[in-house]
Amino acid sequence: MSERLTIRSYRGTYTAEFIADYAATIREQLRPGDHLVVDRNVLELHAPLAVVIAQFAKTVLAPTESAKSYDALAPLIRELIEQRFTKANRLVAIGGGIMQDITAFTASILFRGVDWLFFPTNLLSQCDSCIGSKTSINFGAYKNQLGGFYPPRAVFIDVRFLETLPDREIRSGIGEMMHYFLVSGEGDLAFAEARLDQAKRPGPVLRELIHASLAIKQAMIERDEFDEGPRNVFNYGHSFGHALESTTDYGVPHGIAVSFGMDLANLLSHHLGLIAAPLRNRARRALARVWEGTTLPAIDVERFLAALARDKKNEGREIKVILTRGLGQMFKTSLTLDAGARDLIARFFDERLYLADL
Ligand SMILES: NC(=O)c1ccc[n+]([C@@H]2O[C@H](COP(=O)([O-])OP(=O)(O)OC[C@H]3O[C@@H](n4cnc5c(N)ncnc54)[C@H](O)[C@@H]3O)[C@@H](O)[C@H]2O)c1
Ligand SMILES: [Zn+2]
Repeated sequence: MSERLTIRSYRGTYTAEFIADYAATIREQLRPGDHLVVDRNVLELHAPLAVVIAQFAKTVLAPTESAKSYDALAPLIRELIEQRFTKANRLVAIGGGIMQDITAFTASILFRGVDWLFFPTNLLSQCDSCIGSKTSINFGAYKNQLGGFYPPRAVFIDVRFLETLPDREIRSGIGEMMHYFLVSGEGDLAFAEARLDQAKRPGPVLRELIHASLAIKQAMIERDEFDEGPRNVFNYGHSFGHALESTTDYGVPHGIAVSFGMDLANLLSHHLGLIAAPLRNRARRALARVWEGTTLPAIDVERFLAALARDKKNEGREIKVILTRGLGQMFKTSLTLDAGARDLIARFFDERLYLADL
């Protein structure tokens, strides 16, 4: 397994590298004048981190959605300008997707763009968001409304950070990875199926899965960095997953919600005659290993459908979702909410269709 992915992007190539010791890498890579944006929780959980970053200018933040909002960025930008941060210095994010988005967005607008580095510390950011260039921040209560495409110069992945993640965050990350494996096709799904049980604790198997999902994502973002067409397939499970997150007031972690979303997409695909039952059942059994132990609360289907209709990937009044004709054959389509589809979605939650094979 190659320890380093070299990703082509519109800003030149950047690397995502598996490292064995974040402290050593920080000592090697950081330069005086660099400014760190650090997740407060990670700093508390990983005592050696505080020692190794002591000499650097830093902003320590609580990872909340309000911290990654337009209004909350002003103090960080003011501090950077007043402390004479220059275009020669780098921003360095240490944390999950929230530190990433704050740092990437700020880097993209400061002095028309400064370089940034990323040490992703949770599974969702290590297996997915750390590559792909997207930067999004919130505007008030409106999530991810502002942003662009601005990749880091380098990503350093130390899987030992994952040792302090709660079990459901590991499952959530595995759920996120499952969407890459299913979209990729038979080979990657079989690879994942054989490893799922051992991946629930941080270690070499989980690292292999992270590498495999990044490699799948890399191939796609090099083709469609700006999400103009082919990359849309990675929205598989996501429209339904986002609606589920919203309907449960974010009580279901993202990757777990996406796993339910993929099963619902597969059921609808089967309902439309696009896939045969055994395929849906096989995927369901793999996905069930992600969500087992999660009990979904009662879902208000009207609220779920309203959230689905508000998805920002929709076009006009059409609800756009990713359905499938088979492994590796996901495609974007308009969802027609006729009586049959509504009934299936209602039964998915009310009768817990996700618990049973067809
Ligand atoms: N830019 C992108 O491509 C992209 C992609 C996906 C999601 N996002 C954004 O990222 C955010 C969600 O990302 P996230 O789930 O990584 O959120 P996050 O950054 O809030 O991290 C989730 C939680 O994990 C904790 N955490 C991080 N590392 C830890 C560790 N090693 N041990 C214990 N706890 C740890 C954090 O403190 C936080 O409480 C959302 O705002 C979403 O919009 C961005
Ligand atoms: Zn996702």
